[in-house]
Amino acid sequence: MGTLSGTTVMITGASRGLGRALARTAAREGASLAICARGGEALEAVAEECRGQSVEVLAVLADIADASDVERFAATALERFGGIDVLVNNAAELGPLPLPQLTDAPSSALEHVLQANVLGPLRLTQAVIGGMLLRNHGLVVNISTDAALIGFEGLGLYSASKAALDALTRSWSAELHRTMVRVISVDPGDMHTAMHMAADPEANPADLLRPEDVAERLLALLVGRLPEADRIEAATLA
Ligand SMILES: NC(=O)c1ccc[n+]([C@@H]2O[C@H](COP(=O)([O-])OP(=O)(O)OC[C@H]3O[C@@H](n4cnc5c(N)ncnc54)[C@H](OP(=O)(O)O)[C@@H]3O)[C@@H](O)[C@H]2O)c1
Repeated sequence: MGTLSGTTVMITGASRGLGRALARTAAREGASLAICARGGEALEAVAEECRGQSVEVLAVLADIADASDVERFAATALERFGGIDVLVNNAAELGPLPLPQLTDAPSSALEHVLQANVLGPLRLTQAVIGGMLLRNHGLVVNISTDAALIGFEGLGLYSASKAALDALTRSWSAELHRTMVRVISVDPGDMHTAMHMAADPEANPADLLRPEDVAERLLALLVGRLPEADRIEAATLA
């Protein structure tokens, strides 16, 4: 693995699951971090652990579904670090639990899931990408899922949001192809996290990837080369 030393990595939803694993791995590799989540205690615990690697960590309580929180997170991070080298739009929500069938799903639930999983990443990327373009350097990673492409019972709202995020990724990637700023989509595969267990309580953890292993491979891939594909499938990481 190369190194993230001297870079600033911004990760949404870093208090548990894949986001926490990415923050820990990036801190070990020497990156300064700007992280957010809604739950303060868990987020601060991750921030403290990462500071133990002697890196600078900005932890901001922010709900990615809330436009003013996103603006505050971006503004605080840009003020602290000057610019962001890598943004990982990781935070996402499944919607109401237990997962409703689409026939019964309230449209207001889709509105919220779209705010969190699509509008949030769009707004945050817009807030930091200007600096990336000025420096002609940067990477935005939108965390996707196979559910963006395949229909799964109960995951309709989440699937629709991730398919929309993938569409934004493809268009953004096309718009930036003459620059050295990349916007890519990564499907991390099925991981043993709170989200996966909420969606599929019967899942056997032994059948699932460890978020720590996925984070390791994902960051190795990112520092090894800037991927040319818009979408990186779990198979690429495995
Ligand atoms: N787990 C899987 O099998 C799997 C498979 C494919 C793709 N993915 C994708 O991988 C990413 C990470 O998933 P995960 O399984 O690690 O999820 P997770 O365990 O539920 O963790 C989600 C993280 O995001 C934060 N978060 C959730 N909603 C937020 C909001 N509105 N604003 C700010 N932070 C928010 C959570 O903290 P708070 O609740 O405190 O805010 C937490 O830190 C997601 O994009 C997911 O769609 C997961």
